[in-house]
Amino acid sequence: MKRSLSPLCLAAALAVAASALPGTIDLTNLPNYANQTIPNYITRNNTPPDNQISNAGATLGRVLFYDKRLSVNNTVSCASCHQQAHGFSDLATASQGVNGTTGRHAMRLSNVRFGNEPKMFWDERAATVEQQATQPIQDHAEMGFSGQNGDPSLADLIDRMEALSYYPPLFIAAFGDPTITEDRMQRAIAQFVRSIQSFDSKYDAGRSQAPNDGAPFPNFTASENRGKQLFLAPPVFNAQGLRTGGGAGCAGCHAPPEFDIDPNSRSNGVIGKIGGGQDLTNTRSPSLRNMLNPQGATNGAFMHDGSLASLQAVLNHYNAIPTPTSQAVRQAIDARLLPGGNPQRLQLTAQENTDILAFLATTTGSAVYTDAKWSNPFDANGNVTIVGTGQTGTNWSFF
Ligand code: HEC
Ligand code: HEC
Repeated sequence: MKRSLSPLCLAAALAVAASALPGTIDLTNLPNYANQTIPNYITRNNTPPDNQISNAGATLGRVLFYDKRLSVNNTVSCASCHQQAHGFSDLATASQGVNGTTGRHAMRLSNVRFGNEPKMFWDERAATVEQQATQPIQDHAEMGFSGQNGDPSLADLIDRMEALSYYPPLFIAAFGDPTITEDRMQRAIAQFVRSIQSFDSKYDAGRSQAPNDGAPFPNFTASENRGKQLFLAPPVFNAQGLRTGGGAGCAGCHAPPEFDIDPNSRSNGVIGKIGGGQDLTNTRSPSLRNMLNPQGATNGAFMHDGSLASLQAVLNHYNAIPTPTSQAVRQAIDARLLPGGNPQRLQLTAQENTDILAFLATTTGSAVYTDAKWSNPFDANGNVTIVGTGQTGTNWSFF
């Protein structure tokens, strides 16, 4: 029983085998990052005109995101703290870096691209996703190429990367030549981060069947629809800051359909610091999508200091904003949470509490946790092989 394959058949067979191999990236058969379907009710996009997502750019970004060789001792990658299985966050309150742990909780990364507020981090200290992208690499505690106090610098990292076989073909595919620069690393990582989108939640299924967010969603339970109304509607307060009607006012700062942070938001009254102390600078939240995983467990604790372990604890916080302990705290907290100068008291009933929790659970998607295009491209030994470069001397020259 002898069969012979034509060269074309052989090429096709090898291409299928190659794309299925762990630790292999086939440049002739890249996943779709550039033209993913975006629902028509999503209207915002913070992609700069000069850094549109390309399949090759996001693929390079994926390798950079998962590459532990981008940390001084080869142990930490972006994905160490932003884990796909946990909505690109970390179950640990403080994440482990190469020289200690982080001062704040790692942020989930789905739908970063669709937020109104382009600034990144809880305190908004990075102006854009691009600007953010190389900061963890240059942070002494996180990945260690700070160039200060004896740490190697980003230039040292680029020297290291130039000696790795997989980067030249990836940079050629993304940028046309193999030159590695910080700017190109930022662009590629930002393309990958912006590509991480999640629009297959129960909320999305309902939103796509309704004329607007305020209309009842046909696929929601009565409780979920009531929770949605409470999330959307602003509260009505009396002179003492006690809620006498209306909703819980969440959408004022976390508006659907992106559930991203209102750029004008100030502190929500969570003012602690991991390890103790006070931090009044946090005015950004990641999108409120994917706070729970598809099994209903949290993707890590909530808030910059991870001080609220559950969504119930979050509701308890907003139900009774702590009384400001100083003038500085009072000035940091968003005025919407201090009606008439008093910390808000939502006085949620048990039913209202249940309804809001039911609604918050509808924003969880599924593909974001499992889609291979956002997964680790390295094999178990930490290697990745690039095929389909069209270079002579490889099996792939006839593509
Ligand atoms: C050691 C853990 C750790 C590593 C490594 C790490 N991050 Fe983070 N990431 C965090 C923490 C903690 C925050 C929040 C920090 C803050 O606000 O001060 C964060 C915030 C972010 C944000 C902001 C999200 C938002 O909505 O504002 C982005 C984007 C991000 N990281 C991407 C990356 C990328 C890309 C890398 C790799 C180059 C990386 N991170 C490496 C822990 C980490
Ligand atoms: C005045 C603006 C404002 C209002 C109103 C508001 N939030 Fe927030 N929210 C924030 C800010 C700012 C943060 C980030 C705070 C921090 O970590 O320091 C945040 C954080 C959160 C987080 C944590 C997200 C994460 O990834 O850890 C959740 C959950 C949340 N809010 C839910 C709600 C709900 C539910 C309501 C309504 C009951 C609400 N918020 C009302 C501003 C607001």
